[in-house]
Amino acid sequence: MMAENCSNQKGQIMHKAHMAGIGYYVPEKVVTNADLEKIMDTSDEWIRERTGIIERRYVADGENNADMAEKASRKALDHAGCDVQDIDFIIYATLSPDYFFPGSGCLLQDQLGLNGIGALDIRNQCCGFVYGLSIADQYIKTGEYKNILLVGSEVQSRGIDLTTRGRDIAVLFGDGAGAAIISRTDDENRGIINTKLHADGKYIKELWCEDPGSIKNPRLSHEMIDSTSHWPYMNGRYVFKHAATRFPEVINEALEAANINKDDVDLVIPHQANMRITEAVRMRLELPEEKVYSNIHKYGNTTAASIPIAMSEAIAEGLIKEGSLICLAAFGSGFTWASALLRL
Ligand SMILES: CC(C)(COP(=O)(O)OP(=O)(O)OC[C@H]1O[C@@H](n2cnc3c(N)ncnc32)[C@H](O)[C@@H]1OP(=O)(O)O)[C@@H](O)C(=O)NCCC(=O)NCCS
Repeated sequence: MMAENCSNQKGQIMHKAHMAGIGYYVPEKVVTNADLEKIMDTSDEWIRERTGIIERRYVADGENNADMAEKASRKALDHAGCDVQDIDFIIYATLSPDYFFPGSGCLLQDQLGLNGIGALDIRNQCCGFVYGLSIADQYIKTGEYKNILLVGSEVQSRGIDLTTRGRDIAVLFGDGAGAAIISRTDDENRGIINTKLHADGKYIKELWCEDPGSIKNPRLSHEMIDSTSHWPYMNGRYVFKHAATRFPEVINEALEAANINKDDVDLVIPHQANMRITEAVRMRLELPEEKVYSNIHKYGNTTAASIPIAMSEAIAEGLIKEGSLICLAAFGSGFTWASALLRL
């Protein structure tokens, strides 16, 4: 898309960042609601009605988080017309890393042959991509880096309780990865306009995975597994209520800060949590259906990967293109919530 932004020219002190390319990868294995009916007490009707999800993807044996990230990254590099060696920093957002440590950013860096450059893992759950975009924006603005690879990648299928006990969460999530190249630009008419980040830690227990963690000694025990505290817990109705409020709030915050009218936004791309949340947000913002993107029916909630996957598909479908004004927004565990306004 913007090969000239990947050059090595020396710049000035303050710069502008823009999204030069984006790409995604989802595993081949499709898991339909009917497939889930075979392993837990649920129904296609229940899932569709409450979430809009029809199917999701799960990784195959041997496929991992960083592998998906690598595939998505190579597509984003192609889309940007950028050589892998032009990348000077990696930001990797995930809540399902390959290892407790080191971060998956280090795995991806090695797989891409970028040994030596910095690789930052961030853990902001469903807001990971927008938080990462904000970090990338700051680094580009100060002139520290020129081309940052920002990734959101999740293997949710290995961290959910795929039995009736875990059905409220299990049916929602899927695996996948999305990546974007955030580059320096001199073009005043495009780029990241602003990012708004929030969190409120008093809600940590409403959507969390308690164990294993260093708050316990030992960090991992048989008792944890017996008590099922290693599976995520979600207070679904509570999460729904907060998400439906925070999404419009943080979108309005971004619009007001930039003095932009909502009608001038070409497309709002919310984190794909649930079709009913997206619909509630759309109605609160009084936006027409075609202005709020949704592909949750195909992938479920892929957490940090959902926005870049959705954005890639919106570009492929011709809904947004160079010059489009878009608003990204997310809400998730923490609670965290965030938005970003950018012109492609
Ligand atoms: C999870 C969610 C879909 C549940 O919908 P809901 O309207 O709150 O649930 P309902 O009250 O209609 O149904 C609850 C019942 O369905 C059951 N149920 C839960 N999951 C089920 C499933 N997968 N299949 C069938 N039944 C299920 C519950 O056990 C409960 O049964 P009970 O009434 O006998 O106790 C909804 O709360 C939600 O979308 N929350 C937000 C989730 C989210 O987006 N999280 C990620 C944020 S990033």
